[in-house]
Amino acid sequence: MLGESKFKIFLDLINTAGKDELIWMSGYLNGVVYNQGMQTAPVKNIAAPAVNKITIVYGTETGNSKRLATDFAYKAKQKQIHAKVIGMDQYRLSDLQKEEYLLAVISTHGEGEPPIAARKFYDHIHQNGFKLDKLKYSVLALGDTSYPLYCKTGEDIDEQFNKLGGVRIAPLQKCDVEYDDDANGWFNAVLEQLSSKPVDLPKEAAVADIKVPAKKVGKQVYTGTIVTKINLNDRGSSKETWHIEIAADGLEYQCGDSIGIVPENPDEVVDAIIQAAGVDAEKVVSFKNETFTIYNLLRNKINIIHLTERLVKQYAEISGQDIPATRMNLLDLLKIYPVKDAAQFEEIVLKMNAISPRLYTIASSPSAHEGEVHIVAVKDQYTVNGEKKFGLCSDYISQFKVDGEQKFFVQPNKRFRLPAEDKNIIMVGPGTGIAAFRSFIAERDATGATGKNWLFFGEQRFATDFLYQTEIQNWYETGVLTKVNLAFSRDQQEKIYVQHRMLKHAAELYQWMNEGAYFFVCGKKDPMSIDVEKTLLRIIEQQGNKTSEEAVKYLEHLEEQGRYEKDVY
Ligand SMILES: Cc1cc2nc3c(=O)[nH]c(=O)nc-3n(C[C@H](O)[C@H](O)[C@H](O)COP(=O)(O)OP(=O)(O)OC[C@H]3O[C@@H](n4cnc5c(N)ncnc54)[C@H](O)[C@@H]3O)c2cc1C
Ligand SMILES: Cc1cc2nc3c(=O)[nH]c(=O)nc-3n(C[C@H](O)[C@H](O)[C@H](O)COP(=O)(O)O)c2cc1C
Repeated sequence: MLGESKFKIFLDLINTAGKDELIWMSGYLNGVVYNQGMQTAPVKNIAAPAVNKITIVYGTETGNSKRLATDFAYKAKQKQIHAKVIGMDQYRLSDLQKEEYLLAVISTHGEGEPPIAARKFYDHIHQNGFKLDKLKYSVLALGDTSYPLYCKTGEDIDEQFNKLGGVRIAPLQKCDVEYDDDANGWFNAVLEQLSSKPVDLPKEAAVADIKVPAKKVGKQVYTGTIVTKINLNDRGSSKETWHIEIAADGLEYQCGDSIGIVPENPDEVVDAIIQAAGVDAEKVVSFKNETFTIYNLLRNKINIIHLTERLVKQYAEISGQDIPATRMNLLDLLKIYPVKDAAQFEEIVLKMNAISPRLYTIASSPSAHEGEVHIVAVKDQYTVNGEKKFGLCSDYISQFKVDGEQKFFVQPNKRFRLPAEDKNIIMVGPGTGIAAFRSFIAERDATGATGKNWLFFGEQRFATDFLYQTEIQNWYETGVLTKVNLAFSRDQQEKIYVQHRMLKHAAELYQWMNEGAYFFVCGKKDPMSIDVEKTLLRIIEQQGNKTSEEAVKYLEHLEEQGRYEKDVY
């Protein structure tokens, strides 16, 4: 084996060589060995180092990266490579400089940002000036081509490891929503590099740069017509939850999928920006290989709200002003830190990000609502300095006009699927989480599925917020819904949520689970899905006479069997 520094030089040489050069080098080395009087077989391939210990770190928001990292560790074990799997939030950052073989599986979220649990790791490698001389690494980046900053976090980590002195053992692999094939291909390539078998270095590894993903067929974008728009909350509610029905030709989806919508920026904000910047709204500019008038660019293409710190920093650099590192709206920036002229404004906006799509879980069923897709979207409200504001896309949806057109795409969710028609299901879907279960129940009703269906639904008040009350009551009366438990948090002094209803029916719930039921959760991730999971664990522990570790194992087992699934956000 070569020492550390020699091995780095050796890999650097290989990584920059073309195929012909590699063949020549291999022949040359063989000749050198032969001339030194040693027996050697003719060299066809390059021997990779034998490695028996690796670390796989993952950064995840919705669990895909964790699942892959765990699968990879299992595969590595079968090749006698011990793999330590650890979430980036649990990883001891001081260990990084000691790492020799590190694989990172990381998704991108928000607007090209790391998952929350990976932020500390991401910031650490970007901010702290240290060297990773020992590191041999490769990055698997999960993402979605519908987002403007595709696999950005994976790209950043790959590049930064390299800047800090790490050596790639396999090139960055970016993966779209259907990630299984690319991810497994990447891991097999990594395993080959780690194994002691002679291997041909893949050409991409020699380039030691970002691999351009194979051209994927883009998502099909439907142009739908809004056929129904109803506010599901009654007068007096603190919420505005819109039921939207969209008809579209050739529509294909399955229960459990979502749709993606790219919102437009509000007209009045776009006008105010144009005025503040003193630009010609009709001037034609080019943005990411497309041409737009400045007006259309600001209205339909560029995200102008809640700019990331990186973009605010960029604004500060271009405009030559001192601006604190914080997130801001473009209009506020222009008002507080005006640009010099229209040319400076153009330079700034042409470097900004495109608007990200927002996902909405489908609330209809292909069998019950042919040719239509329904969603249920709550108008997002927040306050900034005491001023009430609305989320961009949910506000945009709230202004949909019946008969108006809207573009959307279908985002599949392969894990969140109805099981075989005779299986029992338990559904926990408070608030907009009801979407997935309106879809599930309508499908089971339309197809005459024989499995039992138990729904937990919750909202603030029975009188104003019981979303889909009539449908749920009808399904209960006709027996499609076997059981319904409701929790209206603000109808009494103490707050009652779905998890309290689960506890009340703990024995029966555990019996259903033990008899093979599937457990689904849809809606707000935090705190709802976290509280529901804690409660589920408590029920398993108490009803099953298990220790907390055994309860965790039980739930993990359900997850492996696809019997505990979440669609949470
Ligand atoms: C798989 C999936 C399924 C989903 N299904 C549904 C569903 O069925 N129904 C549903 O209603 N939603 C659903 N969502 C959520 C939905 O995609 C959107 O995230 C939600 O509608 C909010 O988007 P928005 O554009 O209205 O808000 P945004 O404009 O994106 O704002 C979101 C939050 O960002 C912060 N923010 C934004 N701008 C500023 C600012 N200028 N200053 C300070 N803070 C700011 C605020 O906290 C605000 O609440 C789902 C999400 C996912 C990932
Ligand atoms: C709200 C949201 C924002 C996302 N933003 C991006 C993005 O900016 N770029 C990208 O490539 N993928 C983006 N994705 C797609 C995820 O990276 C992709 O779904 C991935 O498989 C998730 O992996 P995880 O479960 O390990 O977090 C986004 C997904 C969601 C739900």
